[in-house]
Amino acid sequence: MPDPSQSVAPAGWSPESWKGRPCAQPIAYSDADALDEAVRSLSLLPPLVTSWEIERLREELAQAESGGRFILQGGDCAETFDDCRPELIANKLKILLQMSLVIVHGLKKPVTRIGRFAGQYAKPRSSMVETRSGPGGVPVTLPSYFGDLINRAAFTPEARRLDPALMIKGHEHAAMTLNFIRSLVEGGFADFHHPEYWNLDFLRHGGLPGDVRADYERTAREMVDGLRFMEALGERAVDQLTRVEFFTSHEGLNLHYEAAQTRTVPRRSGWYDLSTHLPWIGDRTRAVDGAHVEHFRGVRNPVGVKIGPSATVGDVEGLWTALNPRNERGRLVFISRMGASRVRDSLPPLVEAMARRKASVVWICDPMHGNGTVLADGLKTRSFGAILEELEATCGIFERAGVPLGGVHFELTGEDVAECVGGAAGVREEDLRRHYASPCDPRLNYRQSLEMAFLISRRLGRRE
Ligand code: PEP
Ligand code: CO
Repeated sequence: MPDPSQSVAPAGWSPESWKGRPCAQPIAYSDADALDEAVRSLSLLPPLVTSWEIERLREELAQAESGGRFILQGGDCAETFDDCRPELIANKLKILLQMSLVIVHGLKKPVTRIGRFAGQYAKPRSSMVETRSGPGGVPVTLPSYFGDLINRAAFTPEARRLDPALMIKGHEHAAMTLNFIRSLVEGGFADFHHPEYWNLDFLRHGGLPGDVRADYERTAREMVDGLRFMEALGERAVDQLTRVEFFTSHEGLNLHYEAAQTRTVPRRSGWYDLSTHLPWIGDRTRAVDGAHVEHFRGVRNPVGVKIGPSATVGDVEGLWTALNPRNERGRLVFISRMGASRVRDSLPPLVEAMARRKASVVWICDPMHGNGTVLADGLKTRSFGAILEELEATCGIFERAGVPLGGVHFELTGEDVAECVGGAAGVREEDLRRHYASPCDPRLNYRQSLEMAFLISRRLGRRE
């Protein structure tokens, strides 16, 4: 329960106050009437999540902050409306669930699953416009594609127009996604105690060193045995185990969308962003005096901030002061994304500065966004080796600082795509062109994700 003595909103804050601040990724709709109409409709629609779910996530994040729980956050770089399909959603839940079970087994602590889903429709871009060669080689410049919440991917003036009505469509698609997720969870879809469900064959043939392979196989066997044992104990135990919870998260990039769903609720003080459980602020929009920090300082939700290699000690201290002035546990989540080559220099001073101040913050490692590379033909990829290297270096940094690493954040899919190279399944550069489905950043595929979970479990389980 929130502290009833707290003020309803921080001084100077309102759901509109962000409009007076500089915005690093402005969504400049040209039709003001259409924008007003969309925002008004959106503000009348039912919320996607509830305040009590948000409060529960805050409690779980507080546990992760003190090392008693681990957070697994993952999903697509960008969801699209076309991908709002039952099999894709179910496969995403399946991989997150399987990864979480592997981590529970290794770390011997509860895991909270947070999907990058049911609203991950808006993308920051490094350039506001995109130029391509048009008819007769004449260059054509149009707005960049900012995700289905804002405009459409096709390179035509009509598709690239920033369309406020897409916010309503975004809300509808998020609601459909969440409705299906809630039904699957309610129906106990998680039939993971059948070993054939685990698709672990690739580990056997993947050219792994013998001891690593033996470890994987033993873990998988122990988990299946453990689940069978639970089943033998009676339905209640299995039911509790299989009825797992998924929280939602997305980058709160489009503040028109977020503000229209930021509301007060009966019998609680404070404002809630009811579009998602955990909104996060991207690395490009985390300026302390910027619009995004202004908006999210006013909500009760836990708030994530991506912390890239340009972040200084002053930046993280400023973010902590602005977003967590009462130093509440489970309120502020820093998601570090430094890159394997920079993490050893960039991250320790930030972690140490926060620890010195006894700042309440949950640290999560995103080893994806600092490790992008672009191939000669322009295709974006990431290497499994670099992702793992950043993760391992991050674990070492937190161990040396005596601060718990609260969780991990991945771009992943439950599908058999080839977007990141490497891993036991041996995805090669030449495979990428055949199975590349992401409209945005490259994701770990099903096998790479599961392998990553085993590696996390080995690395972090070692000292528990
Ligand atoms: C993302 O998470 O997809 C993203 C754009 O991240 P970042 O803000 O860390 O670059
Ligand atoms: Co991304």
